Amino acid sequence: MRIVITENYDEMSRIGARIVARTINEKPNAVLGLATGGTPIGLYRELVRMHREEGLDFSRVTTFNLDEYVGLPKDSPASYHWFMRENLFQYLNIPEQNIYIPSGTTDNYEAFCTWYEARIRESGGIDLQLLGIGTDGHIAFNEPTSSLGSRTRIKTLAKQTILDNARYFERPEDVPIYAITMGVGTILEARKILILANGRYKAPAVAAMIEGPVTSMCTASALQMHPETVCVLDREATKDLQMLEYYEWVQEKSPGSPYRKRREDTPLL
Ligand code: F6R
Repeated sequence: MRIVITENYDEMSRIGARIVARTINEKPNAVLGLATGGTPIGLYRELVRMHREEGLDFSRVTTFNLDEYVGLPKDSPASYHWFMRENLFQYLNIPEQNIYIPSGTTDNYEAFCTWYEARIRESGGIDLQLLGIGTDGHIAFNEPTSSLGSRTRIKTLAKQTILDNARYFERPEDVPIYAITMGVGTILEARKILILANGRYKAPAVAAMIEGPVTSMCTASALQMHPETVCVLDREATKDLQMLEYYEWVQEKSPGSPYRKRREDTPLL
């Protein structure tokens, strides 16, 4: 894993957005895997700015979202369909037919999950998968003890995740109990993975992901098995890392690394 330490949420978001932009510039018809939640909002804002001000072109991009709550229609403000439209899609030029988000209202979840996996394959596979991490170490909605080989399916949310996400609902009891989510196995097939984490409250999960054993108790730890994962962290999220000094040293010393610590004359990427 490559660890990139940034000073704050804004810098984390800017570096994350540059990694996404570089993927699109290298491959204009890139397939992106996208996440929701508080973590990627700044990155999405930066992508919108790059689209407007720098002409970053999404016209040939395809996107697959990680997950959706079961039972929430697309027009529910708490749904991930709504989130993606509000925070990203309404501002970009991604063709409507290139946008895939799991359905929270299909009447045949099993068939839908099989179809979703097939669409990812037929689109050529995911070039860059963007992830956040839950306080219990989940990626997408792969809660602790999810199979590390799992595919897109319905998962029952952990109580901690329901509590963490209650802030997006009017009442905590409105948070759905089930979600449709890409599996850990689905995520690991992406060619590159970009995981972001910010805030002190994420530090234990970040340490378990990077330095803990590979275990289904922290599904993010499965990313240790992926050859091209970049973790972009803000300073607060690094607080529980035992090897922090080493990661900083690597970041500082790597010749030609696009992630070198910023000096006045060194671009971030
Ligand atoms: C969202 C998702 C989740 C979140 C995670 C962190 O699509 O798959 O795994 O990335 O729960 O959420 P935030 O960013 O709100 O802390």
